[in-house]
Amino acid sequence: MKILLVDDSRSAAVVFAERLRAFGNEVAVAHDGREGIEQFQRFAPDLVLMDIEMPVMDGFEATRQIRAFEAAKQWAWTPILFLTSVGTDDNVIAAIEAGGDELIAKNVPERVLRAKMMAMTRIATLRHEVIKANRQLAEDVRLRELAEAELACRCDELSEVNTKLARVQGQLIQSEKMASIGQLAAGVAHQVNTPMAFVHATIGTLLQDVQQLLDLVGAYEEVTADLPPERLARVAACRRDVDVARLAADAERLGRESRENIERVRKIAHSLREFAQTGASGRWRLADLHRGIDATLELLGSEVSDKADVIKQYGELPEVECLPEQLNQVFMALLVNAEHAFGKARGQITLRSGVGKDSVWVEFADNGCGMPDDVRRRIFDPFFTTLPAGKGLGLGLSLSYGIIRSHGGTLGVDSAVGRGSRFRITLPVRQGAAG
Ligand SMILES: Nc1ncnc2c1ncn2[C@@H]1O[C@H](COP(=O)(O)OP(=O)(O)O)[C@@H](O)[C@H]1O
Ligand SMILES: [Mg+2]
Repeated sequence: MKILLVDDSRSAAVVFAERLRAFGNEVAVAHDGREGIEQFQRFAPDLVLMDIEMPVMDGFEATRQIRAFEAAKQWAWTPILFLTSVGTDDNVIAAIEAGGDELIAKNVPERVLRAKMMAMTRIATLRHEVIKANRQLAEDVRLRELAEAELACRCDELSEVNTKLARVQGQLIQSEKMASIGQLAAGVAHQVNTPMAFVHATIGTLLQDVQQLLDLVGAYEEVTADLPPERLARVAACRRDVDVARLAADAERLGRESRENIERVRKIAHSLREFAQTGASGRWRLADLHRGIDATLELLGSEVSDKADVIKQYGELPEVECLPEQLNQVFMALLVNAEHAFGKARGQITLRSGVGKDSVWVEFADNGCGMPDDVRRRIFDPFFTTLPAGKGLGLGLSLSYGIIRSHGGTLGVDSAVGRGSRFRITLPVRQGAAG
């Protein structure tokens, strides 16, 4: 065991150290309290033998400081035995109160000293075991903390992956829906067009036939004017029920309205086909998106400028590989929608753009009416519209969605009722890079 002997009497210390070494101990010696503290910190003994009366610092004070040091450094308690020439009861009590564990006489008989050292060696062994167990415990705690941190990290990763999954799932559902609706739309457009063309043609013929009939009636009327009334009885009865002038006017109006409505059906069918064919036609080339947006704004002209201020916060964009006409169609849909979102007050449309990794983004933000959640969820559905009948087809956004998707990009939306909406298009710069 390692013993620190603190004694100001050098000759006594030499003798006592020899006695201790004779029992197989490693002994360090200090000659006053302060030196004792220094040695204690450096040597880390299993046992301290401490003289009480010493110059510079006495044994009691040195012991108090050693205990304070142990507490601060969380060292295991080191037994301290005081050496004295006068073993009074008062001395024993003072020694223990100062933090010592035992008091022995300097002239302790050899066999008693040997026995005491045996007891102290046992304590030293136990103390080493405690220290070892403590270290193991600290290491266990450290490893557990590491494992916990790792777990927390994994947990974060997992929840991030979960969020991504949910988003991708949402996109998948939307694109699945789009794909099947696209197929359906192409079919319906095709089916509708043929009969409509037929009806359009037959209405023309029908109108011509009616006109001929009316001309014929006119001719008869001229001729019948000269006939005697008794011969005209049957014709007169007919004339009472039929207003020829009204018939002529009706035929003209009904024909015009039918044609207008057929035109409308054809337009819907055309939009549907376009929607279904999104991405299938056109020539891919490099284009400046800002130019496309500006040209679309120009085309809309006063339609937009009468209702809103347009603020451009364009970033630096590289040219993007795309179908520019189709993208213009998207810009048009978004601008027209923004315009519809304004009430009587003059609105504001903010156009922003920027670059991401291998991608660019463009944002159309308005401070219009915004949308409640149940509307926002459905805006990409074909024919979904909140505009009054006849004003909107509800195809603008579903078409746009298809176009952006066929470019390998995304079309997202943020909206708050009463505050406005923000549509964000993200597009890959190059089509190959889109993966
Ligand atoms: N900027 C916007 N602000 C508020 N609502 C919008 C906006 N853009 C789209 N919407 C909503 O989405 C619906 C669908 O839009 P869209 O597909 O372009 O069809 P449409 O304009 O013919 O109604 C609109 O009727 C409207 O309710
Ligand atoms: Mg629209």
